Amino acid sequence: MSKGNSSISRRQFLGGSMAAAVGSLAVGRFSQSTVSAQMSTTVLPDLSAALASAKAMGALDEAYWWKVRSHFNIVDHMTFMNNGTQGPSPKIVVQEIQRIAGEIGEDPANNYRNEQIELVRQKMAAFTGATADEIVITRSTSEGMNIFANGLDWKAGDEVLVNNHEHGGGLGPYRTLEKRYGIKIVSFDVSPLSPFQSVQQIVDLYAKNITPRTKVIMVSHMPYVTGTVMPVKELADLAHSRNVLISVDGAHPLGMLDLNFTAMGVDHYAAAGQKWLLSGTGNGVAFVKRSVQDRVWPIMGPPGDPKRGARRYEGGMGQRNVPAIFGMNAAMDFMNTIGRPNIEARDKQLGDRLRAGLKAIPGVKLYTPTDSKMSAGLTLFGVRDIPMGNVQKAIFEHSRVWIRTMGTGNLNACRAATHLYNFPQDVDRLLDSVKYVSENAPKFMTPTAAASLIPEEIEVLMG
Ligand SMILES: Cc1ncc(COP(=O)(O)O)c(C=O)c1O
Repeated sequence: MSKGNSSISRRQFLGGSMAAAVGSLAVGRFSQSTVSAQMSTTVLPDLSAALASAKAMGALDEAYWWKVRSHFNIVDHMTFMNNGTQGPSPKIVVQEIQRIAGEIGEDPANNYRNEQIELVRQKMAAFTGATADEIVITRSTSEGMNIFANGLDWKAGDEVLVNNHEHGGGLGPYRTLEKRYGIKIVSFDVSPLSPFQSVQQIVDLYAKNITPRTKVIMVSHMPYVTGTVMPVKELADLAHSRNVLISVDGAHPLGMLDLNFTAMGVDHYAAAGQKWLLSGTGNGVAFVKRSVQDRVWPIMGPPGDPKRGARRYEGGMGQRNVPAIFGMNAAMDFMNTIGRPNIEARDKQLGDRLRAGLKAIPGVKLYTPTDSKMSAGLTLFGVRDIPMGNVQKAIFEHSRVWIRTMGTGNLNACRAATHLYNFPQDVDRLLDSVKYVSENAPKFMTPTAAASLIPEEIEVLMG
């Protein structure tokens, strides 16, 4: 067995150890599960050879980013800029998901892979500045948000403080708690304030809205609407100074920003695999700070032993989606090969270029801050009063750049996402199209057909 393989497939096993297997069968003592269990190893696949050309060495120039791009198989009939909903996966991720699904499909006795999942947890802890005892391997951001919100004890009148750009995935559990226990969701409107001007402005807003009944601040690290990088560390300090917990919906930053949960000082953070981590659907992560775990019940299954740390929040998940977890492992390897600070810098570079360009186009309203401390890979803009669906369509027809519309919080805007597989010329192509749409606004003013407008109820469930 090669050191890098997580298990021996049945074919390899029959080929390599036929005599022993036949011998066991002959005496009726062959147990596939026993053999398969022995075949599980405690190592994760070694993907370094496959990723060698993505290794960041020397100048991180455009030639380097083309090498990174060669690790993807993205369709070539469009420039994809909606990573905020779901990103494309690098080939290595797709291969790992397929490989493990194949292995388990052929040999279901070798399915749990608990030791390897534990190694993925440890890798994720190092990836996010946490300890393994604080990491829950989830299936989505929404699940991670539920684990915290529903895990706390609530009573009528308790308040959770949010803004109106929060996503249904983070807000959903509090809506249920509102009905179930009579908690109160206190929400303030940030649409007229976008783009935010400073960190202090944001902190002051939260400070002003905290009351003696506030139990939790729930905030997106990067609201899916404007893509502002919210000052999570400062908000955590504020929350703790008022004896309030802070739960962060981090669906976007994982895989974009070089995260450190401990340094941010948050009590809870939930993130997605399918967006900027590029690891496909069905995997995610939640951080539950060790010191608050005694206040967070497991919401599914057994109470679990608190000594197991955050692992006990996985107790009721049943059998795991092992291929998806191996996809997440490959995605972390891919990103570690490139270097997380390098990815953050690249995403900011592309985002800054887009925002600077948009600012210079007459008739464009930018909702994302231009200060690169307060922004990164997501950018929200409107073009005159043109209905957002028309802007999206016109841009696609003009340059085949794919972005999404955004009507949350009564906005009429479009959101573009720029990630490590995009290039400055993609950004420039988008800018050209925005300029064209703005200059030809009367052509695009016709009301959008109802079918292309997304009702808010559905839109808040999209990324
Ligand atoms: C800010 C935010 N929170 C939560 C979600 C839900 O993510 P998931 O599908 O991983 O639960 C999304 C995206 O869909 C999002 O943009």
